[in-house]
Amino acid sequence: MRDLAETARTLVAPGKGILAADESTSTIKKRFDAIGVENTEANRRAYREMLFRTPRIAQFISGVILYDETIRQKAADGTPLVKILRDQEILPGIKADIGAKPLAFSPTEVVTEGLDGLRERLAEYRGLGAAFSKWRAVIAIGDGIPSPYCIETNAHALARYAALSQEQELVPMVEPEVLMDGDHTIKQCYDVELATLREVFAQLATQRVQLEGMLLKASMVLSGKDARNRASPDEVARYTVDCFRESVPAAVPGIVFLSGGQGDEEATVNLDAINRYAATVAAPWELSFSYGRGLQATPQKTWSGKAENVPAAQRAFFHRARLTASARVGQYSPEMERDTVPV
Ligand code: 13P
Repeated sequence: MRDLAETARTLVAPGKGILAADESTSTIKKRFDAIGVENTEANRRAYREMLFRTPRIAQFISGVILYDETIRQKAADGTPLVKILRDQEILPGIKADIGAKPLAFSPTEVVTEGLDGLRERLAEYRGLGAAFSKWRAVIAIGDGIPSPYCIETNAHALARYAALSQEQELVPMVEPEVLMDGDHTIKQCYDVELATLREVFAQLATQRVQLEGMLLKASMVLSGKDARNRASPDEVARYTVDCFRESVPAAVPGIVFLSGGQGDEEATVNLDAINRYAATVAAPWELSFSYGRGLQATPQKTWSGKAENVPAAQRAFFHRARLTASARVGQYSPEMERDTVPV
């Protein structure tokens, strides 16, 4: 377990965070549709190779979560994409779940699948170079939901996954995502996140998961996307850190946030406020990022599938990663948005 703890700490090293590039083939199709790029294997490879080859990106990125296709893929010159990351001392990770499906007897809720054969898949991923893994459960807030049944079922699966991942010597990144869809208040989000995290840590304890060898991937506690008078970054920081203090054991080395559909500036400002507030209450965990859209939205648009746009897209990725890494240590300021950094 010593190696797992060290890997977990490396992933949340100060000033660095994680790029979530593990969009499934159907999710990346939505992103490519928005920029008019055909969803082919070659385009997915070209896009991710562009991100991973961004010069000096390892200053800000400690790990990248990959999708099953990507962990097996080679760059245009034949170099495995995993090797491109490893050569920069960026740790490759792998999405271990196979997606959320309707929950039996509760049609508006979902449960994440992928436990069958998971031990063997994880062993294969480790052989392909993975150092960590991720499993995403999805909890929606709405009329009468989430049910305790949904929370418990997803927490049980998360813990089963986490135990198998540690057994296969991959640091599990346990992700119960509380969605920001809806018009709920920040207090409603707090209540759901607290109930979810308490259940997740109870299941992790029952299933003997070692806390120092895992990471929590969490949502920020936010007002719903469609709520009126959405909470400010200072309120987000207070609700989020206070929720963790009530539910996340201090032995967990780090909590990494998903961006969850926040705008990239919004995700950065909130992460900055969270780290500033956490310092005032001596929060025991590293509070970092594992952003998908929050890091990729601008570089994706800049790239738009054209080889001649690669340097500009890499500059956009470097810029967003630099700002997010500053926020991760509470040293972001909005003026930095205008900085231009040559790559
Ligand atoms: P977003 O940051 O786009 O929410 O994605 C992160 C992720 O990995 C969700 O599972």
